[in-house]
Order: sequence, then C-alpha cells, then structure tokens
Amino acid sequence: MSTSAEAAWGITHLRHVALACSAFDECLDYYAGPWGLRPLGDSDGQTAVLRGTGAEHHVLELHRADRNGIDHISLGLADDRSVDEAAAGLAGRGVTLLSEPAELDRPGAGYGFRIADPEGRIVELAARTQAVSALPDDATPAKIAHVVLNTADIEALCDWWCDVLGFRVSDWSERQMVFLRCNADHHSIAFNRSEWASLNHVAYEVPSLDAYMTSLGRLARAGHAVGWGPGRHGPGNNAFGYFVDPAGTVPEVTAEVQQVDEATWVPRTWPRTPELSDRWGTAGPPSPEMRQHMAGSPE
Ligand SMILES: [Fe+2]
Repeated sequence: MSTSAEAAWGITHLRHVALACSAFDECLDYYAGPWGLRPLGDSDGQTAVLRGTGAEHHVLELHRADRNGIDHISLGLADDRSVDEAAAGLAGRGVTLLSEPAELDRPGAGYGFRIADPEGRIVELAARTQAVSALPDDATPAKIAHVVLNTADIEALCDWWCDVLGFRVSDWSERQMVFLRCNADHHSIAFNRSEWASLNHVAYEVPSLDAYMTSLGRLARAGHAVGWGPGRHGPGNNAFGYFVDPAGTVPEVTAEVQQVDEATWVPRTWPRTPELSDRWGTAGPPSPEMRQHMAGSPE
C-alpha cells in the first residue's frame, strides 16, 4: 500500500479553524473588532463565521459552547477527485471516516469529509469551497498561518500527521515542539509536548511587518495590550505577537513566515536558547499567565 505522501492527493493549505467558545458574544466582538476579521452574514447567536482578506471563504468559526478549544480544523484539497482519493486512501489505512465525501451543508459549502486524529481532533478535508469577493490587502489578517496543538504524545501525533495526512517536518524546537508544513509555509500545524491534548494557539497572518506593527497598535488602542511580543521566532522566522481573547484562548498576529523550498529543505533541531527563541531580543520569555492560557483545558 502506498503512503499518502506518494498518493495523488495532497493537502494544499489550512482553510479555517472552528473554535468552541465559552464567551461567544465577547469573542465575536473581539475578532470582528480590533482583531480585524469580517463577519460573513449575521450570527444566529450560536455560530459566527468570519473571513480574512485572503481568498479563503472564511478563516474562523466561533461556536457557542460551555468549553473552549478546537471544534474542528479544515484542510484544503485541490479538487473533488482528490477528496475521493483521500477518503479511499485514509479508509484503506484504517482511518475512520466520520462522514463520507459529500457536498457540505456548511458555511462556504464545498465537497469534503471528516476524520478524527488519534487524539480525537476533528479534521475536515474539503475542496471546491465558495469564492468570496476581493478585499483590500490591509493591516488585518489574510489567513490562518498556523494552529499549534498541545499533545500528550508528540512523537505519535507527528508520525500520524506526516504518514497519514502527508505533512512534512520543517523543524523541531528541541523535542518540545515540532513544526509541520503542507505547502511552502514553514508550518501550518505544530505540536507542543504537553500533559494533555488541547489548543495552544491560532496564528493569523498579516501581509507585512508594517501591517503586523499596525495590528499590535490597533489592538493596544482598543485596550488589548500584546501579552507576549513583539518578537521574532527562530523556527519559521516569523514575527509574533500573542494575545488572550475574551474566552482565554490565545490568538497570535504573525508576519513574514519563512517560505520553504521543498526540494532543498533540511529539518533542523533548534536549541531553546533566548537568542534563538527571541531573535530580536524584544520579547523575552512568555509570562506564567500566557503559558497557562497556552496550556488550554484538557479536551
Ligand atoms: Fe505561533
């Protein structure tokens, strides 16, 4: 049997993240306000759908809930045939399909199906989602840059996402974090070694370093001071600014994510030194409070 890495289908990008949210109204105001996303249609009070300036139909869904964490992660496939081949290939490897390939009765529509990863995260794989009109390329998020997930078994999760879903390891941060890519972006998914499976943070990419600083300023003027940053990471070389949303979940503003040449890239292990973790020397380490928010709640 071939592995997914050899198969015809391949994940093209991170489409959107859906969050279960215990502070739904406050988070909708936050993400549609100073965070800079645009709500699509009116919320029904249970679900809100927000887009960025990029081509993706939406980048964030908020689902009213009594918990905080991931509802699902949506990954892109190129076309209907890739969806069918992915579903057959994954089922052939023993992955349970939570839904069979079908037209999606969801915001953005499309054609896709769902699986769960070994720690129970729901992953949607979909193609042919609805187009949205162009927006100005301003100082607000264009797309989801990456999702970082806490895991109690980083080696097993890394192997599964690579062997089964076709992600590639870009770098390790000692044996604490691993950064996985599905396209030229240095990472779209990363795992952080933890005591339990939970959401660590979601990063939203803005188009330039100037847009990044403008975003930090817009949030600061709205009363949301950056919690960790500004700084530039070692692995991925991206500028970072971490915040805490009204539900206690951590979003990140990022820019200038390193682009990887698939043919020549060699993964490295980054020592977790101050110089390599905080290249500008401006951020220092995250506070105990920020670490606590990043630890999330067990799912
Ligand atoms: Fe990040």
